[in-house]
Amino acid sequence: MSDLFDLSGRVAVVTGGSRGIGRAIAEEMAAAGAAVVPASRSADAVTQVASDIRDAGGTAHGATVDVADPESVDSLMDEVVDTFDGVDVVVNNAGVNPDDALGRPEDVTQSGFEQTVAVNLEGAFTCARTAAPYLQASDHGSLINVASVGGLVGLPRQHPYVASKHGVVGLTKSMALDWAPDVRVNAVAPGYVATDLIEDALNTESVRQSLLDQTPLNRFAEPSEIAGPAIFLASDAASFVTGSTLSVDGGWTCR
Ligand SMILES: NC(=O)c1ccc[n+]([C@@H]2O[C@H](COP(=O)([O-])OP(=O)(O)OC[C@H]3O[C@@H](n4cnc5c(N)ncnc54)[C@H](O)[C@@H]3O)[C@@H](O)[C@H]2O)c1
Repeated sequence: MSDLFDLSGRVAVVTGGSRGIGRAIAEEMAAAGAAVVPASRSADAVTQVASDIRDAGGTAHGATVDVADPESVDSLMDEVVDTFDGVDVVVNNAGVNPDDALGRPEDVTQSGFEQTVAVNLEGAFTCARTAAPYLQASDHGSLINVASVGGLVGLPRQHPYVASKHGVVGLTKSMALDWAPDVRVNAVAPGYVATDLIEDALNTESVRQSLLDQTPLNRFAEPSEIAGPAIFLASDAASFVTGSTLSVDGGWTCR
C-alpha cells in the first residue's frame, strides 16, 4: 500500500478521545502508525482507550484534560512531550451541546451558551495555541479541528453550538494563514454521527426521521467514518491542503 497515509513516527493528540468520534480517530490513527494520546476529562476512560489501542498493537498513552481550562491544556502538552518527545498532530475533537443550550434563542441560558463556546471554540483555540511550538518544530505539523455541518449552515434550536462551530471553521482559515508554511490547519465537518452526543435526537422518532430525510445518504455515520478523513488531513496525502473544511456529512450540505 502507498505510504501516503502512513502516520508512523508521528505523535497525535486527540481531545475528547474517550468515546465517540474522538475514540475512533485515536484508534484509526494508531492503526495508521501514529503514537496517539486520547485525552479527555475521565482518567479511567482514556486509560481504557489507550490500553485497548495497545492491545490491538498500537502505541498509545491516555491523558486527562479539560480543554476549557488553559492550565489543564498546558499540563496535557507537557505530559505528551514527556511521554513521546513531541507533538505532530492535534485533533481538536472535544465538544459539547448541553441541554440548556438547545431551543429557541430566548430559551438558551447564559451558562449554556458560555459552556458551549468555552469547550467547542475557546478549547480548540487553547489547545492549538499551547501546541503551537511543538507543531511548528515538527516536519509534519497538522492541526485538525472537528467542526460540524453546524459550522457551515444554520441549524434550528442549536444556536450556541452553531455559533461555536462557525467560529471553529473561521479559526481553521485564519490559523492556516498564520501558520503556513510550517503547520497545516484543516477541519472536518461531520453530519450526524451515531454517538452519545446525539442520543436524544436518535431516540426521538420524529427528530430521527427528520435528520435522515435531510441526509441524502439516508443514514447516520459511524464514528469510524470520520476517522478516515481525519487521517487524510493529518497525512502526506493532504500535503497541499490547508485552511479547508472537509464536509463528511452524507450530502447534508449539498442542498
Ligand atoms: N455526533 C455527531 O453527530 C456530530 C456531528 C458533527 C460534529 N460532531 C463533533 O464531533 C466531536 C465529537 O463528538 P461526539 O459525537 O463523539 O460526542 P461525544 O459526546 O460522544 O464525545 C465528546 C467527547 O468530548 C469530551 N469532552 C467534552 N467536554 C470536554 C472538555 N471540557 N475537555 C475535554 N474533553 C471534553 C467528552 O468527554 C467525550 O470524550 C464534537 O466536537 C462534536 O461537536 C459530532
